[in-house]
Amino acid sequence: MQIYKEGKAAINYSDGTFLNPKMSLLRDISVLFLKSLNAKGASLLDSTAATGIRGIRYGLEAGIERITFIDINKDACMKIRSNIKRNRIKAKVMDQSIQEFAASETGPFDIIDLDPFGSPVPHVHDLLKISNSETMMMVTATDTAVLCGAHYSACIKIYAARPMHNELCKESGIRILLGFIAREAAQFNFGIDVRLSISDLHYMRVFVTLKRGAAQAVDSIKHLGFLASCRACHGFETYGGMVPEVVKRCPNCGAARELAGPMWLGGLHDRELLTKMLHEKGPYDDAKRYIESIRNEPEDMFFYSIPALTRSMGIGSVSPKIVVERLREKGFEASLTQFEKEAVKTSAPLPDVARAVRILKK
Ligand SMILES: C[S@@+](CC[C@H](N)C(=O)[O-])C[C@H]1O[C@@H](n2cnc3c(N)ncnc32)[C@H](O)[C@@H]1O
Ligand SMILES: [Zn+2]
Repeated sequence: MQIYKEGKAAINYSDGTFLNPKMSLLRDISVLFLKSLNAKGASLLDSTAATGIRGIRYGLEAGIERITFIDINKDACMKIRSNIKRNRIKAKVMDQSIQEFAASETGPFDIIDLDPFGSPVPHVHDLLKISNSETMMMVTATDTAVLCGAHYSACIKIYAARPMHNELCKESGIRILLGFIAREAAQFNFGIDVRLSISDLHYMRVFVTLKRGAAQAVDSIKHLGFLASCRACHGFETYGGMVPEVVKRCPNCGAARELAGPMWLGGLHDRELLTKMLHEKGPYDDAKRYIESIRNEPEDMFFYSIPALTRSMGIGSVSPKIVVERLREKGFEASLTQFEKEAVKTSAPLPDVARAVRILKK
């Protein structure tokens, strides 16, 4: 028997039950998130539980008392039962698929964790059946190659969206995922409030609150749109709406632009909640560092990859950190971004970023 310790949990994970220690940061962030919501009295469904590590940590560390675990795999459910006993958690465990569970159970759950292999798409519709207004959905996607455009047709097939396969791919990928959730939720007359969006390693994770109402659903859909990006000069532009009048040639350099979407063009985080997360007590230093860095990002959509920009300008590399400082001196908001190494997210338009880069080179 192998015991893995993470947070306050001790988890038996032998005999091939899935457990990825590399996801510990993401689990820490989820625990911190639930702690900051003060969600003790909430009902929680760990819908792809594997060893049960998430639900168990939410119980032990965020104080959630009403937890249901499900997993399609019977061996996983045996592990969950032994792990909840080991960690003294009282919970319901059902060896059922999400689809069977949602057909027989009425819910609704206040919090739903979905952390499947690959894409969450086959499961979101069923989980919406056991949701209510204010349900918090925490959704992981590990099919980032699809969302980032390495498998173009797969993204069209699974997400009904055209991906962007360049330096903007991670932000456009997470926005395609959110766009998909917004469209699915709208079918049930739910709007979505995006509270937190994380892109790290090979996974993306989004935290959204559902808001019941036809008007809320329509309002969410109004946040959908497209991204036009130029490979020649690295300028980009977003267009709201499902059939926007997109200028196909780049207004900056005249090259043909690529289009991606539909995707979510609304906000990616609830800044007040991020601040609350930073004030939570406990041994979550790495998670807090991550949250602090995304709280410092400007709310502007997309960013400039400095190596891509300097290459297109035919000049040598400059430090993105110094570009950030220079743009701030000029009165713009600017920071590095979780979506791409050596990139700058800023309120400055492309000509100002290019000017800052050129001056630094001189
Ligand atoms: C990536 S693992 C979950 C990892 C876990 N949440 C953690 O943090 O370690 C995905 C789990 O989903 C289960 N699963 C796959 N399809 C499912 C379905 N349709 N309904 C419920 N569980 C499913 C698998 O058996 C597997 O245990
Ligand atoms: Zn251009």
